[in-house]
Amino acid sequence: MWDLLVRDARLATMTPGAPWGAVPGAPEAGAGVAGGALAVRDGRIAWVGLDRDLPAGAAAVRELDGGGRLLTPGLVDCHTHLIHAGSRAAEWEARLGGATYEAIAAAGGGILATVRATRAAGPERLLSLALERIGTLLAGGVTTVEVKSGYGLDLETELAMLRAARRAGALLPVTVRTSYLGLHAVPPEYLGRAERYLEMVLGEVLPAAAAARLADAVDAYCEPHAFSPAQVERLFVEAGRLGLPVKLHAEQRSDSGGAALVARHRGLSADHLEHLSPEGVAALAAAGTVAVLLPGAFLHLRESRHPPVAALRAAGVPMAVATDWNPGTSPLGSLTTAMNLGCTLFGLTPAEALAGATRHAARALGLADRGALAEGLRADLCLWNLEHPAELAASLAVPSLATRVVAGAVHHAPHR
Ligand code: NIG
Ligand code: FE
Repeated sequence: MWDLLVRDARLATMTPGAPWGAVPGAPEAGAGVAGGALAVRDGRIAWVGLDRDLPAGAAAVRELDGGGRLLTPGLVDCHTHLIHAGSRAAEWEARLGGATYEAIAAAGGGILATVRATRAAGPERLLSLALERIGTLLAGGVTTVEVKSGYGLDLETELAMLRAARRAGALLPVTVRTSYLGLHAVPPEYLGRAERYLEMVLGEVLPAAAAARLADAVDAYCEPHAFSPAQVERLFVEAGRLGLPVKLHAEQRSDSGGAALVARHRGLSADHLEHLSPEGVAALAAAGTVAVLLPGAFLHLRESRHPPVAALRAAGVPMAVATDWNPGTSPLGSLTTAMNLGCTLFGLTPAEALAGATRHAARALGLADRGALAEGLRADLCLWNLEHPAELAASLAVPSLATRVVAGAVHHAPHR
């Protein structure tokens, strides 16, 4: 007896081997597998196949009629800064008038403007912002979301951000994974003393976040105007000592060697990568580190240099796509829109974009238990009011979601 059985669905299983994934006994034919069925027991996928191959006498406590509609894994947004207060719209206006991101940051704006607003907000406000923004992502089909700190930069506010993320994960039907991003910018109280700030991060904040189990991973921003490879390396060594996996904002504005650095530390992911070199591609491939593409930031910063998608593809580097939701460079709260931009701006195929928001995104978070429709994986599912899997990335509207299933529990839309 199963807990849940979805019948007559078009399956995009996103298992490896075929663009939209395959099902035992039914090769994928370019638009997912029609006439599919999927069963759930104890929060996990217990059976996937063709409706007509269901075992005789198969029964479930609850049945969902797919009605021919598209069933996919729940979406995974593997890179966000969605906890932040304040607005940076005026900076965007200035950039439209010709100002650069670095010049705005050097004048005390940029990340530090958000740090001021976030420090002033208080924990309750941070939680309500987190709940509202995660709610927006859930309505778009997200079932797992990563949330970074990095707009507090002091002990109290960094931990408050991570706690708000954890709390939101406990209150909403979603998995929240946290990353400690202490090396995002040098805070004003350490102006001109980046090394002292690094000592504080290594000596106080990182150990406190690890001891309170508030961080699932450690991230940093490696750029000439942020932190050097040598500084990031010290952070990664310390993270390794504490048993925390690492990831990195790398090669966004320049080729600083960040991808090779994070690959050397067996990092989960290297993110952005517009300036990634051939050596960086090879390093990611050898380490099995995921390349996370963030086309929202590329668009909002009006970049012209593309990440080397063809080279990453040729080298077999798994490519994920994420929103990078943040107030300065990517105010984007829709993962399917990020998928669309990944296709239209970076040249991903629609199937690569969906793999990038499911299987590869799960891997970028170190989660081996989700991201595809396969027996034994967590039953995080989306049933869409759509027919063809490419519609998810094709649409610039929020695609119509009928039902989200999270660890086997059914949530019908609307989810806010
Ligand atoms: O992912 N690159 C650094 N961090 C963010 C931007 C943060 C900000 O400008 O507030 C990013 O693009
Ligand atoms: Fe980011």
